[in-house]
Parts: sequence; structure tokens; C-alpha cells
Amino acid sequence: MEIYDNSVFIKTDRLVLRRFSVNDIKYFHSYRSNPAVSLFQSWENYQYSEAESFVNDQIKNMPNQPGTWFQFAIALAKNDQLIGDCALHTPLNEPRIVEIGFTLSPEYQGNGYASEAVSGLLHYIFHSLGKHKVTAFSDVRNQKSIAVLERVNMRQEGHLLQNYMSKGQWVDEYQYAILQSEWKKRKGLLT
Ligand SMILES: CC(C)(COP(=O)(O)OP(=O)(O)OC[C@H]1O[C@@H](n2cnc3c(N)ncnc32)[C@H](O)[C@@H]1OP(=O)(O)O)[C@@H](O)C(=O)NCCC(=O)NCCS
Repeated sequence: MEIYDNSVFIKTDRLVLRRFSVNDIKYFHSYRSNPAVSLFQSWENYQYSEAESFVNDQIKNMPNQPGTWFQFAIALAKNDQLIGDCALHTPLNEPRIVEIGFTLSPEYQGNGYASEAVSGLLHYIFHSLGKHKVTAFSDVRNQKSIAVLERVNMRQEGHLLQNYMSKGQWVDEYQYAILQSEWKKRKGLLT
């Protein structure tokens, strides 16, 4: 397997989704450890050592390996500044149905970057990887995340009661999804 330190998988108008590099660790840790970012996530008090081992693992990984999560670094196309990350989970038992997740540093929220990154990721998943369906889960209280999922035309297809443990509490989640056929229809690739 070829491994690049900084390879770009996806390009959009303003962004690149690329492999993480060791130069990203400091900034990655600074936004992941921000309580506003972890509010609706399973983690809290994210440590520098966790950021280091996370990035070092991602440097060695490739997307689309059944049984793994791959994390893309989201960077500004103009200067390669890391602004967030998005994840692709390829399950072992059914790798044609994948799950995504996304996070932006608070400094870069409110510019449409998350929606742009997720649209690019959907294009990569359906067009380059040929997947059948993409799912995403959001805490029902996470309005900003729900807005991103709706902006990229994912559909709410489930309300899952007490579906994950966050900060010592069982929390409800919405399941969102989009089929390859729905995505192609929106793009005018299918009649
Ligand atoms: C979820 C999250 C990524 C959303 O970030 P975001 O910046 O609100 O989302 P977008 O990048 O799509 O930006 C949308 C906002 O940018 C504004 N905007 C400005 N310029 C824009 C442009 N050129 N295009 C589109 N939107 C633009 C929109 O009006 C919208 O503002 P609003 O929230 O006031 O309505 C962010 O809140 C986050 O990282 N949260 C913590 C992690 C998390 O909970 N992740 C979800 C788990 S699945």
C-alpha cells in the first residue's frame, strides 16, 4: 500500500480533504479539547497524547478499509490551514453502507465549510468509492449538525431513543441517510 504524508483525496471550491500530518497535531488538539466542540460528542477532556496517537494512526491508514474509521483533515485550499475533520466509517459486515461524521474548529464555523466538506465527501463516497448508502447520526439537540445534514440533502430516517452515552447520560439521536440513487438523482445523473 502506498502511503503519502499529505495526500489530497477530495477538492472543493475552498477546501481540500487530505491525509492528516504531524504538523496538524497541535491545532487538532486545540479544537478537539474545546468544550464547545465536544458538547454533543462522546469524548471530553481530550488530551494532547490522544491527539498525537490519533494523528499518528491516521497517517498510516487508508480510507475504505472494512472495519475501520478513516479521518480526513479538512484544510483551506488557499493555505492548507487545518480547520476541522470528517470521518468515514466502513463497517466490516456491510462495507457498501458507510457512516460519516464531521467537526469544525469554532474559529472556522459559520462559513459553510462543514456543508462544503460533507458535500465533497459524499461525492467521493458515491462517485469514487461507488457506495450504496451513507448514514450519519446526530444528537437530537445538535441543531448545527442537523442543519449541515439537511443542507447536504440527507434525509432523517430514524429517531433512536437513548442510543449513545454522552457525559454520563443516555442521549437520543437522529439517523440521517442518503442513497446513491437519491444522490445521483439530485446531481441529474439519474432520471
Ligand atoms: C456541526 C458543525 C460542523 C457545523 O458547523 P457550521 O459552521 O455551523 O456549518 P457550516 O459550515 O455548514 O456553516 C453554516 C453556517 O455558515 C453560514 N455561511 C456563511 N457563509 C456561507 C457560505 N458561503 N455557504 C454556506 N453557508 C455559509 C450559514 O448561514 C450558516 O450559518 P448559521 O449557523 O448562522 O445558519 C459544528 O457546529 C461543529 O463542529 N460542532 C462540533 C462537532 C459536532 O457536533 N459534529 C457533529 C457530529 S455528527
